[in-house]
Amino acid sequence: MPDADGRVAAATAGWLRQARWFGDKHHEPASSRLTVLENILLAAGDTPAGNLRLLVLAIEPAVGAGSRYIVPVRCLEQPDGSVLTTDAATDPAFAHWLLALLAAEGSVPGREGRLCGRRTAAATRAGVWPPGSTLQVNPLGGDASNTSCAVTSPGESPVVLKLLRRFRSGIQPEVEMGLFLEHEGWPGAPPLLGWLEYQPADGVEQAGVLATVHAGLTETESLWAVLRSTAEEGTAVHQDQREMAAGLGRLTAELHTTLARQPTHPAFEPLKPTAAAVATLVTGMVEHATAVLSELAAVKTAGSLQSRLDRVAAHRLNLLERLQSLQAAPLTAPFIRVHGDYHLGQVLWQRPTRRLWVIDFEGEPSRTLEQRREKTSVFKDLAGVCRSFDYLARTVSRVPGASTVDAAELSRIFLQAYEQTAAGQCFWPTDPDEVQRLLAAFTLDKAIYELAYELHNRPDWLEVPLAAVERLLDAGEER
Ligand SMILES: Nc1ncnc2c1ncn2[C@@H]1O[C@H](COP(=O)(O)OP(=O)(O)O)[C@@H](O)[C@H]1O
Ligand SMILES: [Mg+2]
Repeated sequence: MPDADGRVAAATAGWLRQARWFGDKHHEPASSRLTVLENILLAAGDTPAGNLRLLVLAIEPAVGAGSRYIVPVRCLEQPDGSVLTTDAATDPAFAHWLLALLAAEGSVPGREGRLCGRRTAAATRAGVWPPGSTLQVNPLGGDASNTSCAVTSPGESPVVLKLLRRFRSGIQPEVEMGLFLEHEGWPGAPPLLGWLEYQPADGVEQAGVLATVHAGLTETESLWAVLRSTAEEGTAVHQDQREMAAGLGRLTAELHTTLARQPTHPAFEPLKPTAAAVATLVTGMVEHATAVLSELAAVKTAGSLQSRLDRVAAHRLNLLERLQSLQAAPLTAPFIRVHGDYHLGQVLWQRPTRRLWVIDFEGEPSRTLEQRREKTSVFKDLAGVCRSFDYLARTVSRVPGASTVDAAELSRIFLQAYEQTAAGQCFWPTDPDEVQRLLAAFTLDKAIYELAYELHNRPDWLEVPLAAVERLLDAGEER
């Protein structure tokens, strides 16, 4: 009979590998070992559902780097000595345990480290804790790399709990940005109320964030969902949508202005884009594009897509040169901290107040924490939104009867409103040529990122970023 950890690992491996947020599906189970690093009892179960435990699991493939995952489970002993585990991320008992630990700023020892609850000044001000005993938990979002849920309790303000499934040690931008924006009094994001961190005991590794808790917004929908459903219902894109695009431009400029406001804060002070800083940026883009384009060149598909992929792959050098052209003349606008994973799904529209809110400051999940915290041009975020309008237009164009979305028009409105609010700020280039160069390079970089994403996750959608790259090539040929 395996030991307790072996039994938990055996009981969890099957469903863990199927979970949407499990990012190591490409490793064969036979050649990737699952190890239990931590198995912490959170609440002894006197219910038939069993004990509540928090597991830190490591996947160690035979080749390449492994990953660590955070998995709260219900663990039930069977009469034959085996155990059954089920995911407890949206279990009210887990939410209760987590909120109580954060409220008390408590800590729980594990085998290799300890779990620590942290609360922010905003939580104290809002008076949302300690949690009531009857919590209602509603899962939110797509569960792509994290698991989020809304937690409500009679008579208390709702909160949103996000479990970051992949464990990474180091400063988590979601927490760092949340604390900074709160300190600066920026009202455009729901306040961070607290977080759960894991502190390894060995002192070699830094602590890492396992979960965050934010104030929950009611009656909200993502801007993506609002714009998409209006268009799919056949409602013509009217003034409301243009207003939303303009509002998003203004809100984004205010966000960047706030992020650039502290000239002596090491993590947030704007950085002059020296030749070395621009070279680092461009090298990163070129290396990424080179890898994606050579992967694309090897793809074999059916039908007309093949010739389109072949054309893009054949123009590899042309595309790389476009990224490199960022270095053709000096950049003047300082690099700052940005959202980093900015698109229409990261903005919430609150219908009764007609307000927009920015959420999810975690950065692009596929990048390291250090990369996500690097300062860069604001065009990283601006290109993200413009690409998202393009996705919106393509998505609704697949639905019979939907009205058309003019991505170019919405992007123009968004950028104009942004510029009107940001003009005069250090991060907005005074030279229109610099604006165009940055927008073009970051848009291409984002489209190449999307090519890789769709290739690995949604081959049916490859056509969307492919069309964007083709448009760039066509425009180049016309010149
Ligand atoms: N503070 C909040 N109030 C209300 N809903 C929220 C809040 N934060 C997130 N959500 C909802 O949860 C979803 C996922 O949140 P997000 O932070 O973007 O997680 P992910 O990292 O999984 O993308 C959002 O699309 C939104 O619907
Ligand atoms: Mg998100």
